[in-house]
Amino acid sequence: MLTTNYNYQETLAASVKVNWRIEDIIGGDKRLDFTKPFMPESLARVEALEFLSVEEKILLNQIRGFGYLYTFGVVEEFILPFVLDHARPHLNEDDYRTRALLQFASEEAKHIHLFRKFAEEFKAGFVTNCETIGPPEEIGKAVLAHSPLGVALVILGIEWMTQKHYVESVRDDEDLDPQFKSLLRHHWAEEAQHTKLDTLMVQALTDNLGTKEIEKGISDYAAIGALIDGGIPQQVEFDLQALERAAGRNFSEPEEKQFRVVQRQAQRWTYIGSAMTHPKFLETVGEISPGAQKQIEEMSIAFS
Ligand SMILES: [Fe+2]
Ligand SMILES: [Fe+2]
Repeated sequence: MLTTNYNYQETLAASVKVNWRIEDIIGGDKRLDFTKPFMPESLARVEALEFLSVEEKILLNQIRGFGYLYTFGVVEEFILPFVLDHARPHLNEDDYRTRALLQFASEEAKHIHLFRKFAEEFKAGFVTNCETIGPPEEIGKAVLAHSPLGVALVILGIEWMTQKHYVESVRDDEDLDPQFKSLLRHHWAEEAQHTKLDTLMVQALTDNLGTKEIEKGISDYAAIGALIDGGIPQQVEFDLQALERAAGRNFSEPEEKQFRVVQRQAQRWTYIGSAMTHPKFLETVGEISPGAQKQIEEMSIAFS
C-alpha cells in the first residue's frame, strides 16, 4: 500500500503562494530572443550533428523548443479532464482536497493557455512553419481510454520529469534565451505541487485495488508509453523538414539518416526515459509494486 507524507492543505497553500498570471510572464516587452538556444543540450542533442553549422544548430534547438512546449500542452490537455474526473465524485468530503485538485486543474488550463500564446509568438518570429503530431484531442482521447491508474502513473512520471529538466538542465544554463527559461521556471514552480497531488491521486487509486488491477495499471502505463513512443518518428520527420526549410538547404541521405537516429533517441529520452528514471516516480511505483519498479528500470535503458 502506498503511503505518502504529502497532504492537500500544504499543497494548496504552496500553490497559492507561487501562483502567477500569464500576462505577467509573456507578451509586451517579454519576448523570445531568436538569436539564442531555447533548450538545454542534454535534451536537444544538436551537437552530435556535425554537418550542421552553428546557426543551423540553433535553429534545430529552437524547433525542439517549440515541440517541447507543444508536447507539454498536449499532456496538459489530458491531465485537465483527468484531474476534474478524479475530484468530482468526492467534492463534499474534504474541502482542502477539492480546492487543491481544482487549483491543479486551473493551473493546467492556464499552462495550456500560456503555451498557446508561446506558440503564437514562436510562429510569428521563427523563419518557417513547424509541424507537430496530433491533434492534441486525439492523443488525449487515446491516452484516456486506458485505466485511471495507468493514466495517473504516466502523469506522475511526466510531472516529475518537468522538475528534473528544469533543475538539472535549465536553471543553471546561462546560454539559454532568458524568456524561454522564464516560461520553464514559472511552469516548474507550479508543477512542483502537481507532482505531490499526482502521488496522492495514485495513492487514492491504489488504496482499494487488488494485485490484478495494479498489474493492469502498470501494463496500461507501458501501453501509453508505447503510444507516445510511436508518435516520435513522425515528429522527428517534421522537425527534419522544418530544419531543411529554415536552413534553406537539403541534407544528404547519410546526414538525414544520422539526424533521425540522434533525434529519435533525443526525444525518447526527453519525453519518456527521463520520466521513467525519476527517483521519486520509481519510489512510488516500487511501493505499489516492487516488481513493476524493476521492470520499468530495465525498460528505461532503451530510452536513455
Ligand atoms: Fe503544466
Ligand atoms: Fe502539471
